[in-house]
Amino acid sequence: QRHLLGIEPLSRPEIEALLDLADEAVAISRQIEKKRSTLRGRTQINLFFEASTRTQSSFELAGKRLGADVMNMAVAASSVKKGETLIDTAMTLNAMRPDILVVRHHAAGAVSLLARKVDCSVINAGDGAHEHPTQALLDALTIRRNLGRIEGLTVAICGDILHSRVARSNILLLGKLGARVRVVGPSTLLPAGVEAMGVEVFRDMRAGLADADVVMMLRLQRERMAGAFVPSAKEYFRFFGLDQEKLSRARPGALVMHPGPMNRGVEIDTAVADGAQSLIREQVEMGVAVRMAVLEALARNLPNA
Ligand code: CP
Repeated sequence: QRHLLGIEPLSRPEIEALLDLADEAVAISRQIEKKRSTLRGRTQINLFFEASTRTQSSFELAGKRLGADVMNMAVAASSVKKGETLIDTAMTLNAMRPDILVVRHHAAGAVSLLARKVDCSVINAGDGAHEHPTQALLDALTIRRNLGRIEGLTVAICGDILHSRVARSNILLLGKLGARVRVVGPSTLLPAGVEAMGVEVFRDMRAGLADADVVMMLRLQRERMAGAFVPSAKEYFRFFGLDQEKLSRARPGALVMHPGPMNRGVEIDTAVADGAQSLIREQVEMGVAVRMAVLEALARNLPNA
């Protein structure tokens, strides 16, 4: 494929091939000499209209480890601030002949729209509440490396499902790989009709965590809740925050995951976030590997490759 816009269009073999490539990238990243030449002579532009720590820095490192020239577009200091539109900004960058654009935008569908306008490959680094495909891939890689499989596992995704592109991409990916997926949260933070995505829905966290192999926590996305009822941190934590007592309902040794950024004391207790079952730091390492794998896979389809 020329672009990576979401998990939805990917087949199970395509996902598994990306995870296999990412396993190789983990090995490369653990060597002293990390640099490869797969993308030598290629230009990668990271265009982030929303804040990011993990995704942007790991795409930058991934591109550099594969030998690309990587430019981070400083959107806050760009002509976007003078009213230039997404498409005009993208067409301006396109005229500089990049090979790969990595784009994050607050509007669902914006990255797909942009991909139809430009000549280069486009990677979705998160579009509104729609998809965050590389996050789901890195989560799957983390689970597969720790438990050896995805098929047949029970994964509980907990919290603000309504606003979460991470939840959506994970539901799609884990379903394609044969996991049983549960979503757990208050009614106000569950999308209408989410059952149609093939998940079990729980409004009680202890019931939702019962015998789960993996507990995936999500941040309350207050910035996407304008005008809606927002629970207080204390009240939310009491019912939907992951602490040791609620975690004890899951399978012994269940994996604890969080895509970040975390709000400690809101959706997760510090003792659990930093505890023996937590894979949160490992997820960050897998993020670089998955982004190397995606860049390498797309590089195979670049013109003259
Ligand atoms: N998980 C994730 O997308 O983190 P950032 O917003 O820091 O990129």
